[in-house]
Amino acid sequence: MLGPVIEGEKIRLEPSGPEYLPEFIRWFADLRVTRYLLMRCPMTLKQEEEWFENMARDRTTVHWAIVADSGGAPRPIGVTGIHNIDWINRGAITGTIIGVESEWGKGYASEAVALRTAFAFNELNLERLETFSFAPNKGMHKALQRSGYREIGVRRRSMFREGQWFDTVLFELLRDEWKVTRS
Ligand SMILES: CC(C)(COP(=O)(O)OP(=O)(O)OC[C@H]1O[C@@H](n2cnc3c(N)ncnc32)[C@H](O)[C@@H]1OP(=O)(O)O)[C@@H](O)C(=O)NCCC(=O)NCCS
Repeated sequence: MLGPVIEGEKIRLEPSGPEYLPEFIRWFADLRVTRYLLMRCPMTLKQEEEWFENMARDRTTVHWAIVADSGGAPRPIGVTGIHNIDWINRGAITGTIIGVESEWGKGYASEAVALRTAFAFNELNLERLETFSFAPNKGMHKALQRSGYREIGVRRRSMFREGQWFDTVLFELLRDEWKVTRS
């Protein structure tokens, strides 16, 4: 499913349109962006279009483009989403990518996580969110922790990248803990 428009202070979450797909291809062709992602190789436009159609129909996913003022005009700078939604046990896996490297470190991921989290608990009525992240990906960890996610474990040597093994860190957030963080 495509997520609805959610206005933040610095960014806006909005439904991706097919016109954004060429941007996604550029982001996923950048090894610096994919350094800590599962996906390391870009798709073709046709593959992106197929992914987009499937994703928009998939009732276990909510996907947004992250739009920010970049170079004087609003444009997509990343994506965020709620995936693998389990509607019985009310859990899901979350993820965020800021695909334009010059936009890193501006608080965009932190705000995207905050907006997405509020939607997951207040609108989708989920109970538990989970994500995992490469151990050195400190920017992601801070953005998650700012919304109340906490570290619950480490999968040791679980990812091979750039000739070496990395641990991945598992984070979770329960609805009640999130409410406390917000108050
Ligand atoms: C990880 C990522 C999402 C962070 O996005 P971002 O918009 O730069 O994050 P924020 O600006 O909200 O930063 C959050 C905090 O982390 C810090 N931070 C950001 N990048 C950092 C880095 N490389 N090392 C250490 N701290 C970092 C920021 O300074 C900020 O902390 P502060 O407010 O105390 O200064 C972004 O770098 C990215 O998309 N990378 C490529 C894809 C990826 O790895 N996605 C995550 C997959 S799990």
